[in-house]
Amino acid sequence: MIYLRVLAASAAVLSLTMSFVSEAAANGEVNVYTYRETKLIQPLFDAFSKDTGIKVNVVSASSGLEQRMKAEGANSPADVLLTVDIGRIDEAVQAGVTQPIKSEVIDKVVPAQYRDPDGHWAGISMRARVIYASKDRVKQDKITYEELADPKWKGKICIRSGQHIYNNALFAAYAAKYGEAKAEEWLRGLKANLAQKPSGGDREAARDVAAGKCDIGIGNTYYWALMMNNDPEKKPWAEATRVILPTFEGGGTHVNLSGVLLAKNAPNKANGIKLIEWLVSEQAQQMYADQNYEYPVRSGVAVNATIAGYGKLGPDPLPIAKIAANRKAAASLVDKVGFDN
Ligand SMILES: [Fe+2]
Repeated sequence: MIYLRVLAASAAVLSLTMSFVSEAAANGEVNVYTYRETKLIQPLFDAFSKDTGIKVNVVSASSGLEQRMKAEGANSPADVLLTVDIGRIDEAVQAGVTQPIKSEVIDKVVPAQYRDPDGHWAGISMRARVIYASKDRVKQDKITYEELADPKWKGKICIRSGQHIYNNALFAAYAAKYGEAKAEEWLRGLKANLAQKPSGGDREAARDVAAGKCDIGIGNTYYWALMMNNDPEKKPWAEATRVILPTFEGGGTHVNLSGVLLAKNAPNKANGIKLIEWLVSEQAQQMYADQNYEYPVRSGVAVNATIAGYGKLGPDPLPIAKIAANRKAAASLVDKVGFDN
């Protein structure tokens, strides 16, 4: 059974490789593996192809892409990997399937705190981890992450699993700033304030605020905009809440990245770098801002109006690489305090 499954898996990898090889013979192509939904990024690839004449072949999956690249090894057709969150970005680097992106354009356009010091990844756009506050029950306009552990919020907070990558990065940022002992204390306080066992996704936090189960939910910036503008069924969840951009005391708002990586064995490396550079162009950055509701990483590109309505984002200056370095510690603390129990 196991043998058959392995066989089937390698056959699938093989056929994928072969189809890429035959197509790649025509030159002028780039192969993208992406965790991002095709419908979100296809318009970007179409615009890139129109601009450069380079054809983009896309493999989209919700998990396992770095393992696939590892299994394909030197024969991997992948040139570029697109993913969200420093957690998945870091996993790809740890899997050893990437190489440094050597690009003056990337170094110039992407601020240093949103790039790997070793060049293995670069942020293309940002999202912030924020508060969906009940319009009726939350009066304050400002909030700190530290305050989420204040007993005044007892029984009032809804959040998804503490082991989800979005929370893992937030908790890792806390640990990076204050050390593990303080992070543990804070997590215990936050856990004590939860209205219910961590569950659902970010949208469901808004749903539960709308239903009166909690006063504040924790979620990413783009989900609220998607519910409000693109999802009539969930629009009431957004309408019952407003977004507050929290900050760390003496710091800014926790942000995470949509990132891009260059595959270690990229057969079309030059085109891969062209695509990566194009993704931080003004045109691409504007598309990211308006279609994905993310914050552009390139300065001077306008934030989407709904996102701008949250107020002015002051991103936490903590380098994303420091957050990545604390991911494991944060995951252990979540287990230690029984956050998800
Ligand atoms: Fe998401």
